[in-house]
Amino acid sequence: MDKVEIRIHPKYKNVYVSGSPENYRLYTKNLIPGRKTIDEKLIIIGGDEYREWDPYRSKLAALILEEPMTNLFLDNLNCLYLGASSGTTISYLSDILNKGIIYGVEFAERSIRQLIQNCKDRKNVIPILGDANFPEDYGHNIFTAIDLIYQDVAQPNQAEIAIKNAEYYLKKDGILIIAIKSQSIDSISKSEKVYAQEKHYIEEKGYRIIKSVNIHKYASNHIILIVQR
Ligand SMILES: C[S@@+](CC[C@H](N)C(=O)[O-])C[C@H]1O[C@@H](n2cnc3c(N)ncnc32)[C@H](O)[C@@H]1O
Repeated sequence: MDKVEIRIHPKYKNVYVSGSPENYRLYTKNLIPGRKTIDEKLIIIGGDEYREWDPYRSKLAALILEEPMTNLFLDNLNCLYLGASSGTTISYLSDILNKGIIYGVEFAERSIRQLIQNCKDRKNVIPILGDANFPEDYGHNIFTAIDLIYQDVAQPNQAEIAIKNAEYYLKKDGILIIAIKSQSIDSISKSEKVYAQEKHYIEEKGYRIIKSVNIHKYASNHIILIVQR
C-alpha cells in the first residue's frame, strides 16, 4: 500500500491535502471515526482518521480546488445548507465546522431519510424537512444566527431561493455560497448567458458577488458564486 502523507491545507485550516501542490487530494478529519458517509477512502495517520473528499461528488470540494486562496470555513460557523440531499457534502462540512451547527434543508422525503441515517451520529447536523422556497416555515428549527448559507438546489429559481433565505436568516456580514447549474435554469441558452442573468438578479437585490468560480472541470454546467450583502 502507498504511504500517504497528509498536511494541513495552506488556507483552509480544517481541510487537509496529500500529493504535490499542482495535483493534490482533499481530506477532512473524520468527526465520527470508523464511519463512512459514501464509499470514501479512510486513512489513519497519527491516531487521526481522514476522509478523502471527492470533487466529482461534492461541489464544495471542487470550489476549494478551484479557489484555494480564500478560507470560507472557520470551525465555529453556523451554516444553513439548502438542498441537503442524502448528506454527502454536509458530512464534510460537519467535519470542517466542528464547533458550529449545520441546518440541512431538504424537501424530498427519501433523501431526508438517508440524510438522517447518514448524519445520526453527527451532533452538529440538524436535518430539516422543508421547502427552501418558504424560509419562514423552518424558522422554529433554527436557533443560532447563520454565518454561512450554502445552496445547491438545482432549481430554475435557484438565485431567488438563495436571496430569500439570505434575507431571512443570514447575518449582516455573512457569506452566501450558491452553486448555479445553468441547465436547471435554461437548457437551451448558453451557460454564460444564464450565469450572467443570475448574477444580475443577485446584484439587483443588493448583494455583491465577491467571486465567481467555474467548476465545469468537476461538475458540468456549474459555477459557484460567493456572495455578500
Ligand atoms: C444537487 S442535489 C444536492 C446535493 C448535495 N448538495 C450534496 O452535495 O451532497 C439537489 C438537492 O436539492 C433538493 N431540493 C431541490 N429543491 C429544493 C427545495 N425547494 N427545497 C429543499 N430541497 C430542494 C433536491 O431534492 C436534491 O436533493
